Amino acid sequence: MSATHPGQPLTLDDIVHRYGSTLAVDHVTLEVQAGELVALLGPSGCGKTTLLRIVAGFIAQTSGKVVVGERRIDDLPPNRRDVGIVFQNYALFPHMSVAENVGYGLAARGTDKAAARQRVADMLELVQMGHLAQRQTRELSGGQQQRVALARALAIEPRVLLLDEPFSALDKSLRLDMQIEIKRIQRSAGTTTLIVTHDQEEALGMADRVAVLSHGKLEQFDAPETVYDRPATFFVNQFVGSANVLSGRLEGIDGERAWVRLDDGGALWQARAPRSPLAAGSAVIACVRPENLRLDAASPDDPATLGAHVELGMALGATLVHELRTGSGRPIKLSEPRSPGSQARAAATPVRVRPVAPEAVSLFAAP
Ligand SMILES: Nc1ncnc2c1ncn2[C@@H]1O[C@H](COP(=O)(O)OP(=O)(O)OP(=O)(O)O)[C@@H](O)[C@H]1O
Ligand SMILES: [Mg+2]
Repeated sequence: MSATHPGQPLTLDDIVHRYGSTLAVDHVTLEVQAGELVALLGPSGCGKTTLLRIVAGFIAQTSGKVVVGERRIDDLPPNRRDVGIVFQNYALFPHMSVAENVGYGLAARGTDKAAARQRVADMLELVQMGHLAQRQTRELSGGQQQRVALARALAIEPRVLLLDEPFSALDKSLRLDMQIEIKRIQRSAGTTTLIVTHDQEEALGMADRVAVLSHGKLEQFDAPETVYDRPATFFVNQFVGSANVLSGRLEGIDGERAWVRLDDGGALWQARAPRSPLAAGSAVIACVRPENLRLDAASPDDPATLGAHVELGMALGATLVHELRTGSGRPIKLSEPRSPGSQARAAATPVRVRPVAPEAVSLFAAP
């Protein structure tokens, strides 16, 4: 058995991939640190699986480099890349026991039998499947199969672990268990990991950093909180979490702060300065998440508030949700923690709305 390789960095350097005329990956550069867990997040067809397949060596990219540690691995076949893979459709071998499945990669590498037996036992222990080592894999539950697949991927001590929608077949509670389990295993083994998901909670919850993709392009690569709180693009703001979208004009920028005059009712809101430079007077889109808006008792002429009326109010146990509509008919959603006895406001009630803080308002150039 080779020595463990905890903490090998993985670099995707300007990767482009075309399937015929389809541009599936569009100049993606991603530097994953040693031992880091990075989630690839994006809508269906944005190129997530394609990127994983390129790293695994199942397809050769049109251009760009894949580097693990110091070494470019593009010339290596999949079985020599030291990459562990759990693909959704990467089924277990049905005619083998749990232990045989986990030991498969070791046998293929000619690992010494006693060492392989020990490694299989250790891996099954890690995924808490030791007691089922002799079971046939077709006699396992979905979650158990998933754990065996993970043990099989980890058995070869991969330098990089690739997980493509590994929990998509699981129900919600099992999914959460598996997320925690993978995170724990990944931490203790220190394996550099790329996980593909289109479930944003999964991505935000598990990952050290999240790479958001759209149409093959990397939109943002940041810590989960940064992606959520400071989305780099309008796409990220819309795709991750939910956002109210208002149109307006940029009044001015002062350092970190900006001012936006909303088209709706002329309210003047403070906002976070846009990431890309915009001139005063530019048409902008202001995005605010529902939990970052407050219903205000301010006087109607307070320019920092936006006038609207309640369309629908719902007390959803722990949260109070209001659907509002502005004077021009634009819908606004607002949610807040609900305290005991508090009720939603009646339909047609006039209200004033303001953001909790300037940082809660993201500005983007209008398309
Ligand atoms: N073998 C193929 N031949 C041609 N086009 C392909 C092939 N595989 C994928 N594509 C196209 O490449 C793009 C990216 O596909 P990919 O499978 O990487 O998306 P994805 O992000 O994994 O999507 P999903 O969330 O649905 O799994 C899509 O437009 C898809 O239709
Ligand atoms: Mg996919």
